[in-house]
Amino acid sequence: MWNRVELIAREVFSTYGFGEIRPPIFEPTELFARAVGGDTDIVSKEMYSFEDRDETSVSLRPEATASVCRAYIEHNMNQLPAPVKLYSMGAMFRRERPQKGRYRQFYRINVEVLGGSDAPGIDAEVIEMVMTLFARVGLLSVQLEINSIGHSAAPVDGKLVCRRAYVEKLREALIEVKDKLGEDSRRRIETNPLRVLDSKLEHEQAIIATLPRIGDHLCDDCGKHYAEVKRQLELRGVSFRENWRLVRGLDYYMRTTFEITAQGLGSQNAVCGGGRYDGLVELLGGPPTKGIGFAIGEDRLILSLQEAGKGGAVQGRDVYIAWLGEKAQATAIAAARKLRDAGLRVELPAVEQKFGKALGQADRLGSRYALILGEDEVASGQWTLKTLADGSQAKYSEAELLEFLKSNKGP
Ligand code: HAM
Repeated sequence: MWNRVELIAREVFSTYGFGEIRPPIFEPTELFARAVGGDTDIVSKEMYSFEDRDETSVSLRPEATASVCRAYIEHNMNQLPAPVKLYSMGAMFRRERPQKGRYRQFYRINVEVLGGSDAPGIDAEVIEMVMTLFARVGLLSVQLEINSIGHSAAPVDGKLVCRRAYVEKLREALIEVKDKLGEDSRRRIETNPLRVLDSKLEHEQAIIATLPRIGDHLCDDCGKHYAEVKRQLELRGVSFRENWRLVRGLDYYMRTTFEITAQGLGSQNAVCGGGRYDGLVELLGGPPTKGIGFAIGEDRLILSLQEAGKGGAVQGRDVYIAWLGEKAQATAIAAARKLRDAGLRVELPAVEQKFGKALGQADRLGSRYALILGEDEVASGQWTLKTLADGSQAKYSEAELLEFLKSNKGP
C-alpha cells in the first residue's frame, strides 16, 4: 500500500510538472525556529534537538518546508524557470503524545511551489492536485476546508492592516473572556492569539464562536485573493467548505490555508495541511519569493484506506516452482530465471520439498500457479502447470509455458 500510494503520487505530481527534491533528515535548529516560529508547539515542545560536535544545535526535521526553502536559497533556484515545483517524501519527527494516527516518527508526502506569481490559480491548482491524488488512491469521505488568514505587512500610515489589525482585535476580545478560558488559551492571548481558534477544548467552543472573524478584517488585496481562490476552485470542480478558524500551527502562513480530512481517523483526522507562505524565503535570507505547498500525512492516508477496507493486499506470486530431485533443481533454477526475466513473480524454494508440502506453501503465498518439476517432467520436457484456484493441470513444453504465463500475468 505504501508503495502504491507513493507510486501514484509520483505519477500525479509529474503530470503537474513537479520534480523530486530530497532534503536532509536534520538541519540547524535555528532554521526551524526561524521558519516555523519559536512560539509554536512544534518548535517549543516537539523537536528532537541535539548538540553537534562543534556545539551547534541540530534538529531532526519536524517538517520539510523550511528545508526546501533553505535549499531554494542555497542553490539559487530563483534562477530556474518559475515557479519551481518540488515534492519530497520521507520521515519527519515530532515529540508528540503518540496515539492512533499520531506518531513521533511519521511519513509525509510534501509539495512546494516556489517563485513566480501568487496568482490564486496556483493555490487552486495545488489543491486540485492533492484532491486528484486522493481520488486516485481511493480515499473516502474527503473534505477540504479552506480559509484566508490575510497578510501581515508593515503598518500603512501608522495603522495596522489586515492580519495584524485582526490579531489586535482578537486579543482585545480574548482579554474580555480571559477568565473563562483554559490555561493554554490564556497563555496564547499574549504569545499567539490566532492559535486560540485551534482549541479543541469543549468548554471553549461557545466562547470562540463569539470572537471576531478574520474574514471580516481582510484588506482589499487579501479579500480579492481569497475570493479568486474560491472561484478558481469552483472552475476546477473542487468542492470545499470555508472554516474561519483554520489558522494552522506554523507561523509562516499567510492568505490561503487549507486542510483535508478523511474517514476513519478519529481525532487525528487531518490527512493533509498546507497554505501560502510568501514571506518565508525572504525571512530565511533569500530574495522576495512567493510560495505555497502542502504535506500529506502518509501514515494517516494509509490508515484511512485500510479502515475503508482498501488495505491488506496480499503480496502474491505468479508461480511457485515445486521441484523434486537434483536434476529437477537445475531445471527449476533455469526456469525461475527465465520467468523472472519475463517479469513474473516467482518463488523458488531453496530446499527440496515433497509435492504436497510445496503445493500447500504455494497456496499460503497466494500463488496463482504451481510449476511441478519432477524427474518425469525433466526427462520428457513436458512440464506440469497447476492452476491453484481450480486445481486444474496441463502439460506444456518450456517455450509454451513461458508464452502461456507471459500472457496470463497476475494483476
Ligand atoms: P502540518 O499541518 O504540521 O503542516 O502537517 C501536515 C500533515 O502531516 C498533517 O495534516 C498530518 O496528516 C501529518 N502529521 C503531522 N504531525 C503528525 C504526527 N505526529 N503523526 C502523523 N502524522 C502527522 C506542515 O508541516 C507544513 N510544512 C505543510 C506545508 C507544506 N505547508 C506548506 N508546505
